[in-house]
Amino acid sequence: MAREMILVLDFGGQYNQLIARRVRENNVYCEVHTALSIEKIRELNPVGIILTGGPQSVYKTDSLLPPVEIFNLGVPILGICYGAQAMAKILGGEVKSAQISEYGKTEVEILSESKLFADVEKKSVAWMSHTDRIFSAPENFIVTASTKDCPIAAMEDATKNFYAVQFHPEVVHTAEGMKIFSNFVNICGCRRDWKMSSFVKDTVAGLKNKIGGGKVLCALSGGVDSSVAAVLLSKAVGKNLTCVFVDHGLLRKNEAAEVEQVFSHFDLNFIKIDAGERFLNKLRGVIEPERKRKIIGEEFIRVFEEISKEIGAVDYLVQGTIYPDVIESGLGKSAVIKSHHNVGGLPDFVDFKEIIEPLRLLFKDEVRQAGRELGLPENLVNRQPFPGPGLGIRIIGEITAKKIKIVQESDAIFREEVAKGGIQNDLSQYFAALTNMRSVGVMGDGRTYDFAIALRAVLTSDFMTAESAQIPWEILNIVANRIVNEVKGVNRVLYDCTSKPPATIEFE
Ligand code: XMP
Repeated sequence: MAREMILVLDFGGQYNQLIARRVRENNVYCEVHTALSIEKIRELNPVGIILTGGPQSVYKTDSLLPPVEIFNLGVPILGICYGAQAMAKILGGEVKSAQISEYGKTEVEILSESKLFADVEKKSVAWMSHTDRIFSAPENFIVTASTKDCPIAAMEDATKNFYAVQFHPEVVHTAEGMKIFSNFVNICGCRRDWKMSSFVKDTVAGLKNKIGGGKVLCALSGGVDSSVAAVLLSKAVGKNLTCVFVDHGLLRKNEAAEVEQVFSHFDLNFIKIDAGERFLNKLRGVIEPERKRKIIGEEFIRVFEEISKEIGAVDYLVQGTIYPDVIESGLGKSAVIKSHHNVGGLPDFVDFKEIIEPLRLLFKDEVRQAGRELGLPENLVNRQPFPGPGLGIRIIGEITAKKIKIVQESDAIFREEVAKGGIQNDLSQYFAALTNMRSVGVMGDGRTYDFAIALRAVLTSDFMTAESAQIPWEILNIVANRIVNEVKGVNRVLYDCTSKPPATIEFE
């Protein structure tokens, strides 16, 4: 059975991958392309086309428009924002600058029966972001929704299955957005049989085809993204993949052993470097946070450099870049943010021909899903974000072996109790950090003068801003008791209630 695909024609809007994601959520395969010729579109043979938003104005002569012939393909077409205006312009409607541009949540009212709005509330909130709007609909179109300042907020020619919405159904702020995508998928007559297992299967086949007998190198951090990328590659090229896992000694308790254990089950060359001593030596006496980060980053590259000299030239370097990294760094420049943000980002001295980023179009939860499909264990797949410099930036002041042990043990207790309390999925990130503060305590009958551990748990969707999570007091109480009783050198446990900004998530 031929694979059914919805094609997203990208006009440069901010949320375009989100559109693809909404289609995938409806179990339909989706590809995002920019500036395709009609021949190429015919070749792709989509069952439906979505025209995305974008920053241009359709009435400017140099604006990118879809090929006119798409309207003769006989497939349903949904235009969103700029895409809606492009549809209006091409089919004979009129688009002009709106006197009042709309930005943000706006009430939208459905005006008539429409397959696109099946089961959609008559009045609901939608996300608007436009300075142009459709002033007159093309012939045979009817207006199906409006807002206060946008009389043509949606229009359609149902006989041809052409639909256009001025608002953004793909963002969560549009209350009925998910239904609208589901309705469009129904209009396209989709079987809805695409699953993450299909992504895995197709990606592995594609990589096999591309790489052939080439050699591939992957720097593993033990995090979800690089692990999933590595396993995808191992399925495609087996022993032609070498994964290098540098243990800088600043990982969470048992993490290095867990990563090694997981990867021992896959068909690949796994090289683990125990470089803890080496990192500790470099970090001796260093207290300034940025210096610590620099030292850890540089040393990581040195270790990787040495090992890659032994491996020799490779054809491909694998990166676990995922879509949010691509957005953060500006499209097409993902390497910039990765090497800055991830220790062991892009070692530019490695002799390779091309970078492979198999997860580039996926969101984090989709990567986790792919990981499960590939047989990665749940504790790895659900791993929370962990910074490249590791515990190095969760130990305030000088890093010593003793302090690493204290923070590892405390963090393990915190994680264990969060899991027991069943709240791990409610938190975006949570960990223990070692403050540089020592204070007086009493244990048994004796005085202690020991360190204070700080616990941090945050809620965030983008990690750019965050709020402190309200962890149930019972859980905090158990964690505090266990830490002071079980971790030598700690006599006080504090909870960080600060949001970001003004604080950051990590302590350094
Ligand atoms: P901050 O502390 O900046 O952290 O609020 C935001 C998010 O980024 C993670 N983080 C890092 N991740 N390399 C990384 O790969 C780093 O150097 C780094 N510093 C912070 C942090 O864990 C949080 O999720």
